[in-house]
Amino acid sequence: MHPKELVRKTFQEKFGLPPAFIARAPGRVNLLGEHVDYNDGFVLPAAIDRATYVAFSGSESDVSTLVAADFGESVQFAPPNIADKTQIDGTPMPEWANYPAGMLWAFSQVGLQAPALRAVFSSNVPRGSGLSSSASVEMAFGVAWQQLAGWNQTPMELALLGQRAEVNYVGVNCGVMDQFASACGQPDRLLYLDCRTLQWQTVPLSPDLSIVVADTTIRRKLTSGEYNKRHDACQAAVRLLKEDLPTITALRDVSSQEFNRLANKLPTEVEKRARHVVEEIERSRQAVPLLESGNFVRFGQLMNECHASLRDLYEVSCPELDVMARVAQSLPGCYGARLTGAGFGGCTVNLVAREQAETFASALSTGYEADCGLHPEIYICRASAGAGIE
Ligand code: GLA
Repeated sequence: MHPKELVRKTFQEKFGLPPAFIARAPGRVNLLGEHVDYNDGFVLPAAIDRATYVAFSGSESDVSTLVAADFGESVQFAPPNIADKTQIDGTPMPEWANYPAGMLWAFSQVGLQAPALRAVFSSNVPRGSGLSSSASVEMAFGVAWQQLAGWNQTPMELALLGQRAEVNYVGVNCGVMDQFASACGQPDRLLYLDCRTLQWQTVPLSPDLSIVVADTTIRRKLTSGEYNKRHDACQAAVRLLKEDLPTITALRDVSSQEFNRLANKLPTEVEKRARHVVEEIERSRQAVPLLESGNFVRFGQLMNECHASLRDLYEVSCPELDVMARVAQSLPGCYGARLTGAGFGGCTVNLVAREQAETFASALSTGYEADCGLHPEIYICRASAGAGIE
């Protein structure tokens, strides 16, 4: 059953009446600019046609009841329990509840007291797959609370609150890309965001292209720890490079020439991490003109370079992602293929000539399965609208 129908039906069963509203917030795929958002870089994501749906109504008491239809679990919490992540009966909040509770917490940090709600949610964004299922949960609940409270935060403001929830409540030192894409997505368009100024523009996805998402089915483990280590390595690089480049505040401010001149001052691991970021920011700066001029071949090469860099320098790939990217890059019609999102498992994103997309998808499936012995999930995705009330 589609998650929208599932949440509507489950809400009726659980609460004995239909929900007042249904909120939807999509996952995202990122084409270029990986692990650069928390370095003030540029990213090129699109919201995808897979989303989290929340059926909800206000609640008369100050207790919120949340049902996770995909887990068959529910929680109850009230504002005083939020900071210590417990339910009203004192038991710890399950992990999935940290995302909605984190949004409630983030609203409170800017002086907004979110009203209690009764909600059922479900998602068809696969979890742990690099498609931002957690950001989609945050944005769906952000929209839900905004609707009940009558606030008018902009999509970007909601995205920043979601990032704050993720960093300070969930504990992942992420950038704003995922929440931004989920909140600001537009049909058939890519989004190009400057993560420093938060200025952004859209870039039409050429009708000659398809975005194919290929799920290795490997689920990432221990991500927050490894992710935060990458974040810390980038901070360490900035501190060390500042000795020679006192005006820099992020790796965004370092050119690859400067970096090459100073690289030997950095410990090996920090140097590899920072080199990826500096070079990836240079790649992503080229994205818009290449897409606008129809130079998909060069754009695809940058995607392939990005994968190699994530594999060898940033070390966030895994053998299955490498196979998926390598097989894809050898197939006709494929401009570029690389892992998307944080890495450590999950999906690749492939830019493919539209008329070859179907053949590409089935050849990729066969090639991956022959090499890894795993049956992948591959689909041609559509760039979709950002979060809102259905
Ligand atoms: C995760 C984070 C994002 C971004 C990507 C890597 O998805 O949530 O902020 O850093 O990893 O580009």
